[in-house]
Amino acid sequence: MFSGRAWRVVRFGDPKAAVELQEMTWREPSPGQVLIRTRTAGAGLPDVLMTAGHFPLLGEPPFGLGEEVAGEVVAVPPGSRFAVGDQVAGITAFLEGWGGYAEYAYVREMSAMRIPVGMTDEQAGGFPIGFRTAYAGLVERAPVEAGQTLLVLGAAGSSGATAVQLGKALGATVIAIAGSQEKLNFCTRNGADHGVNYRTDDMTARIAEITEGRGVDLIYDPVGGDTAATALRSIARNGRIAMIGLASGAPVSLDSMDMLLRNYTAVGVLATGDDDAEKEAAVWDHLRGLAERGAITTPVGKVYGFDDVPRMIAEQIAPGAGKTVVRVA
Ligand SMILES: NC(=O)c1ccc[n+]([C@@H]2O[C@H](COP(=O)([O-])OP(=O)(O)OC[C@H]3O[C@@H](n4cnc5c(N)ncnc54)[C@H](OP(=O)(O)O)[C@@H]3O)[C@@H](O)[C@H]2O)c1
Repeated sequence: MFSGRAWRVVRFGDPKAAVELQEMTWREPSPGQVLIRTRTAGAGLPDVLMTAGHFPLLGEPPFGLGEEVAGEVVAVPPGSRFAVGDQVAGITAFLEGWGGYAEYAYVREMSAMRIPVGMTDEQAGGFPIGFRTAYAGLVERAPVEAGQTLLVLGAAGSSGATAVQLGKALGATVIAIAGSQEKLNFCTRNGADHGVNYRTDDMTARIAEITEGRGVDLIYDPVGGDTAATALRSIARNGRIAMIGLASGAPVSLDSMDMLLRNYTAVGVLATGDDDAEKEAAVWDHLRGLAERGAITTPVGKVYGFDDVPRMIAEQIAPGAGKTVVRVA
């Protein structure tokens, strides 16, 4: 039995009133999970949705917050592919109410990897969700090929910035869409080939100019709403839109007649991982290999202390560039 503190949602509402730091105990992990002593945890917009009661996959409070973590394994079930003392990064058991803003965290064994040498704690804690989602979008559900053009919405955000990196690693030409010059500069440093400011530029004209009128092969869309609808005007024949999320507040609205007439496909992406544990472990090996070669690196943004979790959640409504991380210990 392990004891420690955990940030938990006790009621839906404003983060400062909704989350409390509670004393908890963690029993030995069930099959399929390992228990880690947490060092860092990745954060993002889903924390806002979970705290407000708008996250579709979670029920009523109380539940722990924090989808992804990095730390040291302290307990494993029999037959685990990890051992006590391993340094791992992975997705937590947040859907069962056990999150990562906590001194200990259950990690889904099949959704975890050993931390590559040279990866910092902050990079490790912010790696799992963004890159597993980008892999689901760009490799599994709507594969992007080398030489194709990938347009990434919300490109300075947690999901978008990882898709920019994975897209480049897969050989795509990447157009980043963001809402300020500062964020576009971040996207360029993060590997994007082109940047378009959706607030001040004529998006359609700029994309036509960049693609010489051809349009984009794939749109990676964690934003939805009007921005995604505008991006769809620039989709190439046989193009695809990978629907990831709704940072704008609404998912992209699709017009099936437009899809028919302009020959494009919409693909839903939820990075739940493959049910086959071996196939899922192979995905994490692939991601780990890319990180080891330096082809992908977590684009760490602001780092908060463990005591600052309520403020951190409130600030995710208008986050700065990059992946937000909480330093737990
Ligand atoms: N499908 C999955 O498996 C999966 C996995 C992870 C996350 N998600 C979802 O993906 C969404 C984004 O999450 P995140 O963690 O990436 O959020 P985030 O870090 O807050 O990034 C969202 C980005 O979208 C931009 N944005 C917000 N409103 C916009 C608008 N109206 N038009 C254009 N851009 C806008 C923001 O920056 P600027 O506007 O300043 O450029 C921000 O950089 C959420 O809905 C989340 O639940 C889904």
